Amino acid sequence: MCGIVGYLGEQEACAILLHGLRELEYRGYDSAGVALLEASGLRCFKAVGKLDNLAAKLGDTASSGKVAAIGHTRWATHGKPTEANAHPHGLTHSQVVHNGIIENYVALRASVATAFLSQTDSEVIVHLFEKHLAAQPPAADTALAAFRATLDALHGAYAILLISETAPGQIFFARQGSPLQFGLGAEGCFFASSDAPLIGHCAQAVYLQDGHWGVAEATGVRLFDAEGAAVLPQPAALPATSLAARKEGYRYFMEKEIYEQPQVLTDILTGRLAADCLSLDELAPEWLRPLRSITLCACGTSYHAALVGSYLLERLAQVPTKVEIASEFRYREPVLDRDGLFVVLSQSGETADTLEAIKLAKAQGLATLALCNVDNSSIVREADHRLLLRAGIEKGVASTKAFSAQVLTLWLLALYWGQAKAVLSGERLAQELAALRQAPSVMQVQPGVHERLHRLSKRYLHGHGFFFIGRDLFYPLALEGALKLKEISYLHAEGYPAGEMKHGPIALADAQLFTIALMARSCLYDKIKSNVEELSARDATIIAITTEYFELADDIIQIRAYDHPMLEFFEMLVVVQLLAMEIAIRLGNDVDMPRNLAKSVTVE
Ligand code: G6P
Repeated sequence: MCGIVGYLGEQEACAILLHGLRELEYRGYDSAGVALLEASGLRCFKAVGKLDNLAAKLGDTASSGKVAAIGHTRWATHGKPTEANAHPHGLTHSQVVHNGIIENYVALRASVATAFLSQTDSEVIVHLFEKHLAAQPPAADTALAAFRATLDALHGAYAILLISETAPGQIFFARQGSPLQFGLGAEGCFFASSDAPLIGHCAQAVYLQDGHWGVAEATGVRLFDAEGAAVLPQPAALPATSLAARKEGYRYFMEKEIYEQPQVLTDILTGRLAADCLSLDELAPEWLRPLRSITLCACGTSYHAALVGSYLLERLAQVPTKVEIASEFRYREPVLDRDGLFVVLSQSGETADTLEAIKLAKAQGLATLALCNVDNSSIVREADHRLLLRAGIEKGVASTKAFSAQVLTLWLLALYWGQAKAVLSGERLAQELAALRQAPSVMQVQPGVHERLHRLSKRYLHGHGFFFIGRDLFYPLALEGALKLKEISYLHAEGYPAGEMKHGPIALADAQLFTIALMARSCLYDKIKSNVEELSARDATIIAITTEYFELADDIIQIRAYDHPMLEFFEMLVVVQLLAMEIAIRLGNDVDMPRNLAKSVTVE
């Protein structure tokens, strides 16, 4: 998602910042900007779209002499991708860049007297800083004190760099929940939100901890903890190449994206959960309430997320829900409910069949909503309303974090709708909110489980096929597990409803048929247990993913126990993603770019 860079030194800063921002480009963004603080004062440049647009705005602008400079690539969350909403945000004598979400920005905006130029949550930081600075008696470090007072008022997640004409030669920085690091090199002090921009400038980096803040200046960096006590910086070696840095130590982008899921889920929930209710600012309850049905439409992995959504929407919001594969829907001459909502799901926002499907629904007069990971994509532009997924750019062709983001967003939508229709009891809503809050930690990869899947994978490189089976919510998960495996291992795999195996597929059962059974304790456990017993009696090889000991399993992948099916769902999702990846790695396949597949399919 958003990227941050900063530089304090005497080299030309525009080139350094632009180079750093280009290293972060792969994360995805829709606008960018830089601010330069020199002896002559402060200058700021911003542009919508690609970094080339910012470079064109900068033209032959070059910094001279000592400079404190900050830069940012923005991926819109609060407010559209416009120049006014791009970072840095300034007031009279200061500029700030921010990653994360300031949850209490509405209240903070009301607490300052100054007028706002953007719709962002971030702009309030610079207003607060200047307000606190004006209230400080002039002394050494008044700007540092004003910065600290500003941080004290912020709730939410942030990585911040701030510069001010009142503090020439200084960059103020802070981290709370969003990554930020700095490195000292021969040419000065460099900041970035991940390793890649620092490589080539510094050999080591200091990774800030949550609550860390401070100031960089010519004499070095002063670093403090949340209580204000001085912290001794602990540098760590940087990776040797920026490609390796972009993978942040993981072997593949897919692996990195699997490990990023807890952060993605946290980002999705940020600002949306209160003690006893939830909010989705993008959709007014009055808009949702009269809609009588939902059609969810998508392709590939997004289609599987839609299937999960259909269980949740019917159960939690009590809205009749249908799911359509976009390529089938287009030519089926579908009869649509004009009082219904048509929802498309797409990671890329460019899938041709999904795009045509939303056009068709719009032409028939249905209200439309896009759940999409890329702002400004064709599908987002086509839809009446949008819910952006907040997953950050996904590079692995086999979708992982976008899927978990879609599922979580659909769960939020179902609950929000149920809340709007008042069909959920207070007790049920409280249980759901508690489970939602727990979801990010459930997706944290447990090293022991990953290691076990790595070892287990060597036994499953052959055979005449895999069946992933599950019931209820775990049936779409079975489909997704099978899709992941076939996409990257090129082994034949199918997802099937466990109760349906006896109506045909059980004829295939023998020792070479590998059955991955998604045996959720919280959801129809006894039913799937009998289905697995039927397969085991016919000598199928059973790999059970479950919390329980199951004597008929050839292999068990034990997961933690939860009383909410969605938590079991997210925990099992990580397992099927990692299992597919470990098998594909052993087979020597290119996990990130599997043969014959494309990340964005813009043809029908
Ligand atoms: C391609 C990708 C899949 C993806 C599907 C739908 O086939 O390889 O991973 O699920 O398109 O893409 P979308 O961007 O619309 O979610």
